[in-house]
Amino acid sequence: MTTQDARIQAPELVFPTDFVWGAATSAYQIEGAVTSGGRGVSIWDTFVRQPGRVVNGENADVAIDHYHRYRDDVEMMASLGLGAYRFSVSWPRIQPDGTGPANAEGLDFYKRLVDELLARGIDPWVTLYHWDLPQALEDAGGWPSRETSARFADYAALVHDALGDRVRNWSTVNEPWCAAFLGYASGEHAPGRREPAQAMYAAHHLLLAHGLAVEAMRAQRSDTRIGGCVNLYAISPQTGSEADLDAARRIDGLQNRFFLDALLKGAYPADVLEDLGEMAGFAREGDLAVIAQPLDMLLINYYSRFTVSGKPGGAASAAAAPTDSGSPWVGSEHVSFVQGGRPVTAMGWEIDDSGLYEILTRLHREYPAVPLVISENGAAFDDVVAADGTVHDGERRDYIAAHLRTCHAAIQAGVPLTGYFAWSLMDNFEWAWGYGKRFGLVHVDYGTQVRVPKESALWYAETIRRGGLNGPAE
Ligand code: FCB
Repeated sequence: MTTQDARIQAPELVFPTDFVWGAATSAYQIEGAVTSGGRGVSIWDTFVRQPGRVVNGENADVAIDHYHRYRDDVEMMASLGLGAYRFSVSWPRIQPDGTGPANAEGLDFYKRLVDELLARGIDPWVTLYHWDLPQALEDAGGWPSRETSARFADYAALVHDALGDRVRNWSTVNEPWCAAFLGYASGEHAPGRREPAQAMYAAHHLLLAHGLAVEAMRAQRSDTRIGGCVNLYAISPQTGSEADLDAARRIDGLQNRFFLDALLKGAYPADVLEDLGEMAGFAREGDLAVIAQPLDMLLINYYSRFTVSGKPGGAASAAAAPTDSGSPWVGSEHVSFVQGGRPVTAMGWEIDDSGLYEILTRLHREYPAVPLVISENGAAFDDVVAADGTVHDGERRDYIAAHLRTCHAAIQAGVPLTGYFAWSLMDNFEWAWGYGKRFGLVHVDYGTQVRVPKESALWYAETIRRGGLNGPAE
């Protein structure tokens, strides 16, 4: 079917009219301007300066210069017809040292961004923490310190106080799994510590920070919609052996149930605590009640499926960056990650939209009802700008289309899925991988900062306009 035909015909898979169509980014990955506007130092600024932490020693001092180009970027979003834009606020722009009153210049940047979005009819979705902890708080102990949770609630209140009149949809901590276990167990991410027992405290304190922030924000306004954000994986055992089944239970426990059970059921899974043994003493009486605040929605980031084996000696995780790091799987370090035989993206992540269906229907079946949003989903491929100036990224379009069809099927099955955000709006700094991995719908030339919507962006714009897409033959 040509694009022309598709324009006239109604899509085969129609989404609800109030379905949220968006794209996502995060502050450190796009903003640059790390010393502008009174911004303080974050753990990522420190980390990227340590040798061996990021591929090619790259950093995000400039990134894609969104801090200066946000107006043009919002205009581009409008040209794509995005209904919503999920971005994160940089904590050290608001509190350079992680405590005390708000830095007005920092808040102003986000006020301007929000105004620009609203003027273009794009709904701003704010994430409060996408991994850029003020360095001063890391120096005081970081996430393994309980104090950091209280500091986060103060920070959340400052941002919410300033933007809560114009921003309705909020989330607290992006992917606490990554912040805790890549930051403090494997050391692949900032602050690069390899202290497994401390990483469990970090995980708990990130969840506690979420709960305290929800309380603080609700005390300010009752009409704000707040969600927690988790990265969930479908998990398969390599074989039906007892060891492989146990490996799958353990990884599902640490990756998925640890966070879901705490947020939605107010308890950590008993089997995970048992696996952790002496490392399970991180929660205090009453903490789980704070963590399990009623939520307006749950934000889910989904990328891939893990296939795991109980036979030690294999890969310690699925496709870690080729930098110096250990295992993120506290107490289950013996588990090996194997290829499941599916096609992979440029990250080496297996492509499997059936895993998303599994996750969505499981949430619907096993957890208390809460509206769900896919807050990240997407893929890196080795994009090249063709001679005609366009980027033919059919693989990314197919990846997103397959996952959107899965979203549609889940909605048909009764799952309360209310929105989808592609990761990412633009190519950006992909953490320990640096600039080598491109996730954008929009290509960015890192030398000139020129943005060019890839074919996937144009296709996504058309999908938004039509309110749906066709079946796999499209
Ligand atoms: C997620 C992160 C996001 C980006 C994508 C590829 O884990 O939230 O910042 O790195 O993966």
